[in-house]
Amino acid sequence: MRFEGISVEKGFYLQFTSGKKKGLHIPLLDESRLVFGRDATCDVVLDEVDISARHMLLEKSGGSVRVIDLDSRNGVFVNDVRVRSSLLSPGDVVRLGASVVMNLVAEGVTASVFARQEPMTTRILHASAVEPKTAAITPLSTTDVRLRSIVDVIDLIHQEWDTHRILGRIVDVVDSVFAPDRSFVILKDKQGNLMPAVFKQKDGTTGGQISYTIVRKVVEERTALVTQDAGVDERFKAGMSIVIGGIRSAMCAPIAMGNNVLGALYIDTVGRQQAFSSIDLELLSVIAKQAALALHRAQLMKSVEKAYYSTVRVMVAAVEAKDEYTKGHSERVTTYSLRLADHVGLTGKRLDILRLAALLHDIGKIGVPEHILNKADKLSYEEFGVIRRHPDVGYKIIKNIDSDDAAEVARIVRYHHERYDGKGYPDGISGKEIPIFARLIAVCDTYDAMTSHRPYRPPMPKEKVIEELERGSGVQWDSAITTLMLKLVKEGEIVPI
Ligand SMILES: [Fe+2]
Repeated sequence: MRFEGISVEKGFYLQFTSGKKKGLHIPLLDESRLVFGRDATCDVVLDEVDISARHMLLEKSGGSVRVIDLDSRNGVFVNDVRVRSSLLSPGDVVRLGASVVMNLVAEGVTASVFARQEPMTTRILHASAVEPKTAAITPLSTTDVRLRSIVDVIDLIHQEWDTHRILGRIVDVVDSVFAPDRSFVILKDKQGNLMPAVFKQKDGTTGGQISYTIVRKVVEERTALVTQDAGVDERFKAGMSIVIGGIRSAMCAPIAMGNNVLGALYIDTVGRQQAFSSIDLELLSVIAKQAALALHRAQLMKSVEKAYYSTVRVMVAAVEAKDEYTKGHSERVTTYSLRLADHVGLTGKRLDILRLAALLHDIGKIGVPEHILNKADKLSYEEFGVIRRHPDVGYKIIKNIDSDDAAEVARIVRYHHERYDGKGYPDGISGKEIPIFARLIAVCDTYDAMTSHRPYRPPMPKEKVIEELERGSGVQWDSAITTLMLKLVKEGEIVPI
C-alpha cells in the first residue's frame, strides 16, 4: 500500500507490550530504517533509563525485517537471546534492555487485533470501572496538559520532517490530552482507501473494529464530529462496527489541507459514554489541522529530496558510464559509508552531507578522458597526473553551488584521496586535518575497489581485504574508522554489494 508521498509495505507492525510506549503500534514502512533510543533525534524515542542514546536499528527491506544492536549498554534480545544482529519472523519478541518489549506482528495477525475478541459483557464490566470524564468543567491541570499539547503540535511542525516520527507524536499527544481507550491516525492510500497508519490503545483494551462509518463521514464531509453514545446516535446506529465493537464515545477530525483530505484523527472509548465534550472536539480539530500541515510538509520535503537525489544519481551515473569497471561504485561507497555512520550515531543533516559527499566523491572524473579511465595497462606519469586532478575538479564543480552544505561537501570531495600519514593528494594534508567524512569515504572507497572486479585482477577474498585494511590502519587511513570498518566486515555487517 502507498500513502501519498510514502510507501507502506503490506506486512508487518511493531506492537509495544511494555514500557512507556505500551499499546503503540507502528506499521513498518517499505525500505525503512528506524533507530530506537533515548536520544531525541532517534526515529522512535524511548524515554527509559536502561535504554542507550542510540540503542537499536531496525531495517525493513522487501519482506525481511532485521534488528541490529547499536552497541547498546543493556542489549537487544530476540526471544530472550541477546543478539548483535538478527532477522525477525512474525511473532518474535524483541526486548531492549529490561524495559521495552515489542512484538513483530504480521498483517494477518494484526487483523485479529482489530477483530473483537471479548464478549460485550466483559467489555462493559471492564469499562464500568473507569471513572467517566465530565464534559462541563475543565480543571486547571487538564488545561495545562492541553496547552502543552498545542505547543507540542506546533513544535512538531517546526522540528519534525519524518512522517513516521510525526505520526508517533500525534498519537502520543492525543493519548495524553484525551485519555481515550484507542487513538488512530487513519491515512488515505494511493487508491483512496482509508488505512490505519499508527494507533495506540489503553491497557486491557483488546481492540475491536474501529468505526469506519464515523471516519468515512468525517472524511467525506470534511467536518469533525463527536458522539457521546454512538450506539444510539441516529447518525451511526446502522454502522455494524459501532455495534460489534461496543464503541460508545468517539471523536474524529479530518486531517486536511484545504480540499485535500489526507485522512482523519480518530479516538474512541469502548463502553464509556459522555467521554468527550464539544471543547474537546475543537481541540482535536486544531491538532488534526496542525498534523495535516506537518504531514504535508514532510511529504513535500520527501518529494523534493527524492527529485534532488535522483538528479545527483543521474549525474554520477553519467560520469561512471565512461568507465566500465566503476559502474555503481559511488552508490556502493555511499551504502558502506552510511552503514559506518549508523554505528557512530550520525543522524539528520550530518548524514545528508555524508550521503551527498559519498555519492559525488568521484564527480571530478568527468574531466578525465575515457582512454585513461579504461586503460588496462599501467598508467604513464602524465596519465596518472590527469587522474590525480579529479578531487580538485570535483571540488571546483561543487563549490560553485551557493550553499553552506555544498561548501562542506566540496571540501570532503577534495580530500577523499588524502592519506592519514600525509602521503596522499592533492594537498598532502594529514591526520585530523583531513575532514572526518573524507577519512571515512577513503576507507569505503578502497574497500569497494578491493572487492570489485578489475581488468587486471578478480575481487579480493575477505581474508585479503581484512589483511589490507589492517596493514593500512593508522597509516593510509584513520585507525578509529578502519577499526570500525574491520569489525563490520568481520561480523558480516558489511559485505560486497
Ligand atoms: Fe576518487
